[in-house]
Amino acid sequence: MNPRTLLFRHAEVRIYPDLPALTTATTATIIELGRAALAQRQQFDLALAGGSTPRGVYRHLAAEYASSLSWDRVHLFFGDERHVPPDHPDSNYRMVRESLLANTDLQPQVHRIESELEPGLAADRYEADLRAHFHVRATDQPSFDLILLGMGTDGHTASLFPGTSALHEVNRAVVANAVPQLNTHRITLTFPCLNSARHILFLTAGADKATMLAKVLRGDPAGTTYPAQSVQPRSGRAVWMIDEAAAQTLG
Ligand code: 6PG
Repeated sequence: MNPRTLLFRHAEVRIYPDLPALTTATTATIIELGRAALAQRQQFDLALAGGSTPRGVYRHLAAEYASSLSWDRVHLFFGDERHVPPDHPDSNYRMVRESLLANTDLQPQVHRIESELEPGLAADRYEADLRAHFHVRATDQPSFDLILLGMGTDGHTASLFPGTSALHEVNRAVVANAVPQLNTHRITLTFPCLNSARHILFLTAGADKATMLAKVLRGDPAGTTYPAQSVQPRSGRAVWMIDEAAAQTLG
């Protein structure tokens, strides 16, 4: 179905009636971009979002699109990870394994963040994996075909939280980020890496995101800025896939 579309300087916003329509459209867009990458480069480098919203997309991908991609040529990465073991209930890897990979014969090449390790070491090892996979030196950034992102009600994305040091990283692709508001460390892709992606899809749904989404896309009258606003891919606009509930203060 055709969404309502709004254009902003760094964002194209596609508004769907509800979460099921949003999930279907997001899944179809991922497949479309995957097919294009495979046709052009015989490889699809995809970084997945964590949290809860994308779970339905991953389930839909596994259920409806198992035969639509050469999954053995798909490299799955993570935009961020919590500092927990891979079998922990909070693990993004576990969420992806359960929603996308379990009970299917999909065989993508999964590049897990080794979040059971000390955060700095986990970040260093993930950065090394990225640089080896993308064949990039320390002065360049990996360029994903597609990065999926979510947005928190505080305007964070990946694990780039307001007021944290990772917001200021200009060289590394991956850092360990202390997040005092959660009393934890996270491992996260940085803005230089995010903004080097060919395509970025934000997936944001629900009335609880509406106020922050309007501030992120239209600006906060109080002048406050939010991490999600720093996602400005050099390749063009980020595409925001949202539902009407999240759009209710956007106009
Ligand atoms: C994470 C995500 C995080 C998430 C947002 C939105 O590890 O939690 O990377 O950035 O995308 O918090 O999460 P929901 O989709 O659950 O609202």
